[in-house]
Amino acid sequence: MGVVHGAGKRISATMDQFGLKAEFIDGLRVTDEETLKVVQAVLSDFNQRIVWSINKRGGKAVGISGVSGDLFAARKIHHDLGFVGSIEKVDGELAKLFTQNGYIPVIYPIGSDEQGTLFNINADHAASELACSLKAEKLILLTNVNGVLRNRDDEGSLIPSLTLSEAKSILEESFVTAGMKPKVESCISAVEHGVKSAHIIGLKRHAILEEIFTEEGVGTMITR
Ligand SMILES: Nc1ncnc2c1ncn2[C@@H]1O[C@H](COP(=O)(O)OP(=O)(O)OP(=O)(O)O)[C@@H](O)[C@H]1O
Ligand SMILES: [Mg+2]
Repeated sequence: MGVVHGAGKRISATMDQFGLKAEFIDGLRVTDEETLKVVQAVLSDFNQRIVWSINKRGGKAVGISGVSGDLFAARKIHHDLGFVGSIEKVDGELAKLFTQNGYIPVIYPIGSDEQGTLFNINADHAASELACSLKAEKLILLTNVNGVLRNRDDEGSLIPSLTLSEAKSILEESFVTAGMKPKVESCISAVEHGVKSAHIIGLKRHAILEEIFTEEGVGTMITR
């Protein structure tokens, strides 16, 4: 098992403290040089807090960025987004080394290119790429809503399961916006590349167990 995390709300709050304005295009944070510094600082801080929490509960966690072991080789996605990277290549060797030895790698999604430029990578995209590279059985994306909703303001409109083609067609529809867009894209890409199931679920106590071990689940599951 491995963990990839973002820190969206924390980054926006810290940007606000420093008088920077958070801006998003299709759910991705526009990242200029100053924003990248905030992104790095907040992600690294949050990473250590997650590692500590896992260790405290008896797990053995180790925190790394996507630069370690050349995990995420990245490149600029689009000029308008600044230092936002897409993943060119994944080297899952280091993550494997940890998991094989009983450590849970906790990864924050900063990647680098050949020149050493650092990029902010969306955590959902990073998790999906890593899952594919490790030939993981499942990709589980945790968030602040229970899954994909038909109506963003109504938790009762949760879509419990989607096939690959259904997932692709809802991306075309207008109700999947903002941060949900990279999640659905990431699930589609993971399942297309051999991950058996991809799940979008709300971050609640026992949510992962319920999603995996109950018939009805708690969130949205995407399969072939
Ligand atoms: N159809 C939809 N169903 C559910 N949520 C949706 C939908 N369309 C847009 N959203 C939004 O997507 C958000 C989840 O993505 P978001 O990127 O904000 O969170 P995250 O990835 O969990 O955390 P981070 O802040 O680190 O990015 C929800 O809070 C919701 O506002
Ligand atoms: Mg997000």
